[in-house]
Amino acid sequence: MSASPARLVVLVSGSGTNLQALLDACGESGYGAEVVAVGADRDGIEGLARAGRAGVPTFVQRVSDFDSRAAWDEELARVVEGHRPDLVVLAGFMKLVGEAFLAAHGGRTVNTHPALSPSFPGMHGPADALAYGVKVTGCTLFVVDAGVDTGAIVAQTAVAVSDDDTEATLHERIKGAERVMLVDAVGRMAREGFIVDGRRVRFGRTADPQ
Ligand code: GAR
Repeated sequence: MSASPARLVVLVSGSGTNLQALLDACGESGYGAEVVAVGADRDGIEGLARAGRAGVPTFVQRVSDFDSRAAWDEELARVVEGHRPDLVVLAGFMKLVGEAFLAAHGGRTVNTHPALSPSFPGMHGPADALAYGVKVTGCTLFVVDAGVDTGAIVAQTAVAVSDDDTEATLHERIKGAERVMLVDAVGRMAREGFIVDGRRVRFGRTADPQ
C-alpha cells in the first residue's frame, strides 16, 4: 500500500461498533487509512447510521433484490470495486462472499470473527464457545477465502470465559477485545503492508520474516 492513506471499504450487518472503532482510528493522524465507503446487506442498521454521521458514503445490497446469490455477489463485488479499495473489511457482515467477490477482492479482504479460529466458525461463535465449556475464547482477524472463517490468520486475541457468562456478556467482552485487535491489525496492514504466505500472514512488504 502507498504513502497516501489506504482506502478501506467496510461491510456491516448490525450495530457497527467495530466499524466505529475504525472510523475513530482513521480520524487520528498517522493511522494510515481512511474509510471511503460502508456497505451493508440490509437497511436500517446502526452501522449505516454510524457511517452517515461520519460523512462516509454508504450502499446497501440486499440478497432478496437479486435473482440469485451469485448475481448479488457479482453486484456487491462491482460496487465495492467502484470505491477502489486497498482493503475490504468485513466487520460483522453476516453474509458469505462468493466466487465473484473473491475473484475481484480476494487477498485484500479481511473478516473479524468472535472466536479463536479454527474453533467455533460460523454465525454463533460466542454461544458455541459457551456451550462447549471452553475457558478461553477470543477473536480472530483473517484473510477471507472460500471457506467459513477458514482464511489465513492475521491477528488473534484471547478472552477468558467467566463462570457466570451468558452469550451476551461473553460476546460484549469479546467485542471489546475485537475492536482493539481490528484497529491495531488494520492499521499495520495499511501502514506496513502484509504478505500471505500459505497459511501464514506477516506484516511488511518483504517475503522474508525479519
Ligand atoms: C462482531 O463480534 C463480529 O465478529 C461478529 O459480529 C459482531 C459485530 O459487531 N461477526 C460474526 O459473527 C461473523 N461470523 P458490531 O456490528 O458491533 O461490529
